[in-house]
Amino acid sequence: MIEIKTAAEIESMRRASRIVAAVLGLLKAKVRPGVTTAELDKFAEKQIRERGGAPAFLGYRGYPATLCVSINEEIVHGIPSEKRVVRDGDIVSLDLGALCEGFYGDAAITVVAGKIPAPTAKLVEVTRRSLELALLKVRAGARLGDVSSAVEKYAVENGMSVVREFTGHGIGRRLHEEPSIPNYGKAGSGPVLKTGMTLAIEPMLCLGRADVVVKNDGWTAVSADGSPSAHFEHTVAVTDDGCDILSRV
Ligand code: MF3
Ligand code: CO
Repeated sequence: MIEIKTAAEIESMRRASRIVAAVLGLLKAKVRPGVTTAELDKFAEKQIRERGGAPAFLGYRGYPATLCVSINEEIVHGIPSEKRVVRDGDIVSLDLGALCEGFYGDAAITVVAGKIPAPTAKLVEVTRRSLELALLKVRAGARLGDVSSAVEKYAVENGMSVVREFTGHGIGRRLHEEPSIPNYGKAGSGPVLKTGMTLAIEPMLCLGRADVVVKNDGWTAVSADGSPSAHFEHTVAVTDDGCDILSRV
């Protein structure tokens, strides 16, 4: 069952999502060659708490941090570490969630550190735009497959591959609710979207093949061929005529 949220519940989700968006904005400026991923994590945790939220990922299924920092061939769920230093030419995906008034917000961005090769820059741009195109499909009466296929179509047209092992998700009182939102699929298929559904839409694309390997830490998902990967995510509410982007400041 896909839950429908009340207007008041959506406002709580907006507060959680805005905390996430604000902190991601500050983190973006901190992603420079020399910064450790642990520094980014500590900063994110402090900022979420100062804003009256709680970290959503810390302790979730045993995840040990507030932030996921996934660099280059890392797709998602990179664990912050004092030993991991951002280098010139890295692409750095930052995925952050917050809990506020009993509701979750979840968003991700991919940030570039220094100068990167043109194909990698294209990957980041195509991933960002695939999310924007997906959001344009969200409205009451649309099908979930319209959203999924928008990501896949744009990615494939632009020579990128779509990660299939991880998906977006419904979100609300739980970080992960129904439905699962793949970044591939058929337009006109799947559940009909209704006003008040709240979704975390999160394309993950690779420059090479999209096969995934999970590292020995049990979390870090990397592309099997070592090709770079990018990730963007927004938490949104379905409305009668479109999409209310809760995690956009
Ligand atoms: N945005 C990711 C997701 O929806 C982040 C989860 S990380 C975890 O799955 F550590 F909390 F699992
Ligand atoms: Co998510």
